[in-house]
Amino acid sequence: MQVAMAPYLEVEAAMLGQSREHVIEEPNATVEFGAAAAIKIDENGDIGLTGLAVKAGLSGVCHEREHKLFGAITRWPLGERSEACHLSAMSSSPASSPALDVLLSRASTDHLSAPAPDKEQIGRILSAGLRAPDHGKIRPWRYIVIKGKHRTEFAEEVVRAMVSADPEVPEKKIAKRRQRFSEMPMTIALVMAIEPKSKIPVQEQELSVGAGAMNVLNALHAEGFGGFWVSSDFADEPCFREALGLGDAQRLAGFLFVGTPDKPVQGAKRPDVSDYMAFWKSEPVSFGADK
Ligand SMILES: Cc1cc2nc3c(=O)[nH]c(=O)nc-3n(C[C@H](O)[C@H](O)[C@H](O)COP(=O)(O)O)c2cc1C
Repeated sequence: MQVAMAPYLEVEAAMLGQSREHVIEEPNATVEFGAAAAIKIDENGDIGLTGLAVKAGLSGVCHEREHKLFGAITRWPLGERSEACHLSAMSSSPASSPALDVLLSRASTDHLSAPAPDKEQIGRILSAGLRAPDHGKIRPWRYIVIKGKHRTEFAEEVVRAMVSADPEVPEKKIAKRRQRFSEMPMTIALVMAIEPKSKIPVQEQELSVGAGAMNVLNALHAEGFGGFWVSSDFADEPCFREALGLGDAQRLAGFLFVGTPDKPVQGAKRPDVSDYMAFWKSEPVSFGADK
């Protein structure tokens, strides 16, 4: 979110135990906070935290005290100066934790550019997927990562599968998918490795893969990347299954497009939670959302 240049900023550093005010005298300012932990203000007045600042526990930047801008979209290599920084912003209650702010500020985006997470980063991010609840320790999550030069070949496999599923598929649809799968910085195929003979219902195993995917989307967001979950309506085609190496009991739950958001992600307006929750008081409940 772009904010007007503030005469001063109050910086909260929860874990550093510091809180200071800094006068911002010019655009492109960097406010050092400890070693390399810093906030940066670009020429538009966009405010961000350095990666190190986030790692050091700098939980947010207060602008005029009413708003808490949370540094979930920002990501820079340690010590590197940013060219511009964008934060997703939200007003959050003082009681809200930085972790909850990450969850509450996530939104999908498919406006994604390089860089995608590197090998180490994607390993950490996918580790969050393995934290999904998993009845019976089935471990049904498998993640196939497609990046770099393999994207073009993968896009051709997608096209082959689309044509195999529907020989009449419109050329326009083919061109769009070919472009998306070859240009997205990274694609992750979400594989459901189901144990059909397990006493754990298949639905529960599938839900675990869905929960894992959600954790991955949140982890991407927390690390300053963006993601978008898309369907895989062509993925049951034998040629595609073979190209990916899927076993008999393995199916796709879709794909995640991954990269760095081109611009701050606003996301759709969210409904009011009071319409989606109810306290059961020994009587049947009803929801505002269903009225
Ligand atoms: C399993 C699954 C498949 C989806 N497939 C598509 C898709 O093919 N195309 C699309 O535009 N959105 C798809 N979506 C929705 C988007 O991923 C995204 O959730 C939606 O645009 C709303 O954005 P939000 O996550 O910020 O609420 C899918 C979502 C899920 C859970």
